[in-house]
Amino acid sequence: MKNKKQLIEELEARAQGIQDPSLREFVQRMLEIAPDAFYNLPTTKGVHPKDEHGKHGVLLHTIRVVDLALIIADAADMSVEDRDNLTAAAILHDTCYYGPLGESPTPMIEHHLLVRKMAELLGKFLDYSPFERVFEIIETHMGRRFEPPFTPTVSLKGALHLADCICSVWSGKAPYQRRR
Ligand SMILES: [Fe+2]
Ligand SMILES: [Fe+2]
Repeated sequence: MKNKKQLIEELEARAQGIQDPSLREFVQRMLEIAPDAFYNLPTTKGVHPKDEHGKHGVLLHTIRVVDLALIIADAADMSVEDRDNLTAAAILHDTCYYGPLGESPTPMIEHHLLVRKMAELLGKFLDYSPFERVFEIIETHMGRRFEPPFTPTVSLKGALHLADCICSVWSGKAPYQRRR
């Protein structure tokens, strides 16, 4: 079981993988102001695997989501810009799981809409307006479980290929190895 320091280093390494310097800096600044709850608290039981129910569960979940997103990015041969935006969104998507200040004692169902609020805290120091695409991606990550509902469009060919790639690469243990 990895400790908090190791998990934070893993997440920061993934942020370093963002090619665009200004987007990379934005993500790093957001991680700096992310509440302690993001780094310390568990995910929701019943939705997430058991090893995410304890300390640092949201952090562990986030690393997994980033790695899975990058597998999909590889399979879809995404542009560098798309890969960057997807990486940033995956890193930040649950930072406000317990609120922008970590003020909620329980996970907040609307956490996907609160990342924008957290960015406002950076407002005086860093212009986050160029990163609207990242917020847009984050704000639909709850799919059909929240308003407005979002259903991804994936072709049958795409679904099978993605499933095959994910099964081939994803172990849940090994860090994602960038393939290009
Ligand atoms: Fe999540
Ligand atoms: Fe979430």
